[in-house]
Parts: sequence; C-alpha cells; structure tokens
Amino acid sequence: MNTLMRRAQQLQHWRTYCIKQCAVAATGNETAAKGKPSYEQFIDSRHQQAERSIVVQVSSEKSYNELYNYCSRFGHIVSAHHYTVQHEDELHYLLLEYANASDASAAIDSSAHSGELSGSTSVPVRSSFLWFRAAAAAAAGGRRSQAKLSAASAQHKTLPLTTVAGTQSWAPAQLQLLLRGAKSIEEQLQLLYEHTRLNDLGVRMRFLAALQVQRAIAGMFPGARAQPFGSSVNGFGKMGCDLDLILRFDGGATAAATGNERELSRLVYHTKENLSNGRSQTQRQMECIGDLLHLFLPGVCHVRRILQARVPIIKYHHEHLDLEVDLSMSNLTGFYMSELLYMFGELDPRVRPLTFSIRRWAQSCGLTNPSPGRWISNFSLSCLVIYFLQQLRQPILPAISALVKAAAATDIRVTEDGINCTFARDMERVAFGSRNTSSLSELLLQFFEFYSQFDFHNRAISLNEARALSKPDHSAMYIVNPLEPLLNVSKNVSLEECERLRIEVRNAAWILESEVENSTLTEQERHEQSWGLLNLFKHPEKAVIRPNMFFKPRMVEVSDLFEKAQHSNGASSTPSINYKN
Ligand code: CTP
Ligand code: MG
Repeated sequence: MNTLMRRAQQLQHWRTYCIKQCAVAATGNETAAKGKPSYEQFIDSRHQQAERSIVVQVSSEKSYNELYNYCSRFGHIVSAHHYTVQHEDELHYLLLEYANASDASAAIDSSAHSGELSGSTSVPVRSSFLWFRAAAAAAAGGRRSQAKLSAASAQHKTLPLTTVAGTQSWAPAQLQLLLRGAKSIEEQLQLLYEHTRLNDLGVRMRFLAALQVQRAIAGMFPGARAQPFGSSVNGFGKMGCDLDLILRFDGGATAAATGNERELSRLVYHTKENLSNGRSQTQRQMECIGDLLHLFLPGVCHVRRILQARVPIIKYHHEHLDLEVDLSMSNLTGFYMSELLYMFGELDPRVRPLTFSIRRWAQSCGLTNPSPGRWISNFSLSCLVIYFLQQLRQPILPAISALVKAAAATDIRVTEDGINCTFARDMERVAFGSRNTSSLSELLLQFFEFYSQFDFHNRAISLNEARALSKPDHSAMYIVNPLEPLLNVSKNVSLEECERLRIEVRNAAWILESEVENSTLTEQERHEQSWGLLNLFKHPEKAVIRPNMFFKPRMVEVSDLFEKAQHSNGASSTPSINYKN
C-alpha cells in the first residue's frame, strides 16, 4: 500500500510535465529532431556511462553515506541510484557513476576477492559487481586502511541518492490508481507511457550487463562488442523488459592501430580457420560462450542454450540486475532494425505513447504473450503502429524508402552476410514535418478502426513503401521485414490469432468510442471507477464480437484510408525528407 501511496504522490509531479508533452504532441514535430542524438551517439554515450559505473550490494539504503564516502576516494561520483531486487529477502544495490572510467576501474581494482577473505574456492573474476563489507571486517584486514577510510569519510559531502521505486513492471492495481487520477484519456495515455516505459536506471543496468559480457572476453577479443538492441534501447521498452544482446567479434578497432593502418600493415595475425559452415560454427562458439557465462560471470544464472532456433540464442538471468537476457551472435539486422524503431520514436512524440498503449491493450486482452508462439509479437505490433502512422492522409512517419534515399556515404552499413542496412541516420537530416495535428486519443481510435477494416487475407504491409502490397504467400499476417524483404516479420501468427486480432481491434474501437462519448464524469467519479483506457485494458474472459455496423458513420473515412493504402503508388503517400545539405 505504501508503494501505491508513493506512486500517487509521484503522479502530481508528472502531471505538469505530461500536460506539456500533450501540447507538444498536438503542435507537430518539426523541431523535435533538432539536437537529438543519433542512435549510435545514444548507444555510445550509454556504453561509456556503463564504463564509468559500478554496482555495489549493500545491507540497506542506509549504507549509502558510508559507501559514498568510501568510494569517493577513487574519484568524483556524479550520480548514485538505489534499487532493490526481490530474492528470498529484499536485496539492496547502489549503482554509482564516476566522472571517469579510470575512477570506476580504480574502485574495481581495489576490491578484494571473497575467496581471499573467507578462504572459499570461489573463482576470482574481475567485474563491476561488488559488495560492501562491514567496516569492522575490513578493519580486521589492516588498521592502516581503516584510518584512511575515516579520513576519507570526513572529506566528502554526499550526493543526493536517486531512489527508484522499481525496475520491474507495474502491478495492475498501481496502474489503476495512476490512470484513475488523470483528467482525460489524453492524459491517461501520456501517464501510461511516462510511468511504464523503461526508466534511466533500467537502461543503465542493461548497458552494465552488456559491458560485463564484453569485458569477460576482452583479453582474447579486444575488438569484441556486446551491444544491447530491441526494446531496451529503441525507446519502446517497458519496465522489466528483457535485454536483447548481440555479441560481435568485429565490433570495433583493437587498441593501437586504426582500420587504415591495419589495411597497410605487412604483419598479419595468425588465426584459426573455421572448421565447419557458418551456422554450426556460430552454434559451437555460442556453446562455449554459454559455458563461460555460466561458470565465471558473477550474477549470471539459469543459463539456457537455444541453438537450433533461426537465430541461435543463449538465455540467462542476471540476479544482481534482476534481468532476463537473450544473447545472440548472428542477428545484426535486428540491431539495425532497432535503430529504425528508435528513429521513428524520436521523429514524433506521439509514436511511443501510442505504441505503449497498443502494446498494453494487446497484453491485457491476451493477444501477446511473453513466450514466443503463434500469437503476434510486440515487435510486429510496433510495425502495425508504424504502418498506420505512415499511411495516414497526413502521414506522421515517413516510408523507410525515404530514409534510404536520404542516406549519406557515412550511413552505409552492410552486414557480414551481405544484407544492406543503409539508411539516413542523422536525426536532423531525416527531420520530418508532419502536418497531422491529431491527438493521441484520436490516433488510438483511428488505429483500431483502421485495422478492423484491414484486409489481412490478401494484403501484406510494407513499411519500406508505406503501403499495402499483394500478399506473396498464404501466411495469415504478412509484414515485409524492412531490412530483409524476403522475410515476413509476422510469419508465426496463426490464422486464428489474426482473426482474434481483428475481433479485438473492433471491440477496442467500440469501447473507446463509448468512452469518448461518456467523458462527462466528475472528478470524484473518475477517482472511484474505471474509465477511459482502464476500460480498454479490462480483460474480458471471452472476446465478444461487436457488430461491424457500429462503424457505419465512419465508413467513408476508413474505407478511404484503406483504399489509399491499397492503391497509392508510394510516391504520393510517401512524405518527403528535409535535406539539410
Ligand atoms: N527483430 C527483427 N525481426 C524480427 C523480430 C525481431 O528485426 N522478426 C528485431 C527488432 O529490432 C526487435 C529486436 O529484434 O526490436 C528484438 O526482438 P524482440 O525481443 O522480439 O522484440 P522487442 O522489440 O525487444 O520487444 P519486447 O519488449 O517484447 O522484447
Ligand atoms: Mg526484446
């Protein structure tokens, strides 16, 4: 209950901010891209932040001052975050960020190994995951170091600690309370996004998990990179989402020589030839990496190898970060696809809140499921949202082909297996001035209406061309994979699940329309009963088929949109890109 009260208080702070956001959303997005970091800049800055950070387990939040004073001897601490992980007991952690990576390294290098302290046989692995032992125990290790600690304690004024209420997703009761407190459906949509999206600490934790893997193999592979992708970094992730990680041996330059110098060098490394074909080689390497993670990396547990999948992965849980990780080594297009989603999210402030509400709705009516299967995935849902926003009469997002056309020489990216992932990456270069001023709640309703009319039976969705194409095979739902156009993103979706989606979007449109019409509740009534999005998220035991008659008054508009999606030649529905040079 305490957490609920705390959430209610936080709500007050958010309200002003969210109202501002609504205003931004309604006034267009021409300036939205200005000064925004590119995906690569964002990834780099988060990676560097992880290099400057350490995670220390403490007995409780109260240890903060003592830890802060102790750790300040290694360098200037610029931020501190507290979080808990529910194990058998509640475990407390403090994430400290230093001004420089060398400070964090100094803190790590000063640490003792638990084997040295207790005489146990634990493997002495160097990592950013530490624990803070009691001063008395440390004092037993030497009176001099204790004297140093006291002197250091006197010198530092403690930095305010950011206590994060949670890193896991919200319970339905908390969400109820939050959304009932809103003033309108519009505000509910913003609140849902602001409160359920992955927070700053969640992103920091995911980059620390990536760095741990990268550092573990850095001795043999100094150029290797472990890079987060998917919802952890594309801005569509919610609290508690899994971390998708790709480990690339060719991720960057080795220490001394630049790429150019290496090309000119007369000295060439001796290496091992691959003994088998690419796929089985990757599987064997992943098996080996899986063993390494399982045997040596602190925090890593429940390692599972899923090597027969189209993209072989190693799954594991990180107990210090309370995180599920999917590690792959051969899915670079997934990484670049995340970049496209990131850019779409940055291009217009309505994209992410809209997608969040649609993902939440799909989850609440059982259309999506955490385990993979014949149901629609969150990624496919995001593609449906993007396509919907591309095909509007006043498009909110550009076709991917427009980003490809706007690419500069520095944007060329081709994966090892020859897949071209070239598209414009500079946010200013792709700045897109949409004239669409629809509010989030209007767009949500239009989304449900659009897909309740969409001809999934005959048409395939192309985000590249921002239009519907003839379906090339008999898959129930066909979304052309933007980077590998011969693949269908939603190939897994069964006919039954596709039909269920059609029924649920129809129901959702019906509910939402009634909610908009009945939006005359008093403030007290809004606090006491479910309304707006909450009614959309109520999970009916069985989907009820609403009569399609309901859509009659809007038929002209919807069929017009549909017509346009089917017959436009791409150029007319494809918004242009603003070239800056
Ligand atoms: N991806 C892809 N093609 C697919 C499936 C996934 O390119 N058929 C890429 C997308 O970039 C996606 C990422 O792989 O974002 C990770 O996939 P997944 O974990 O399924 O989706 P997320 O977007 O991470 O969503 P979730 O929060 O459900 O994990
Ligand atoms: Mg994911």
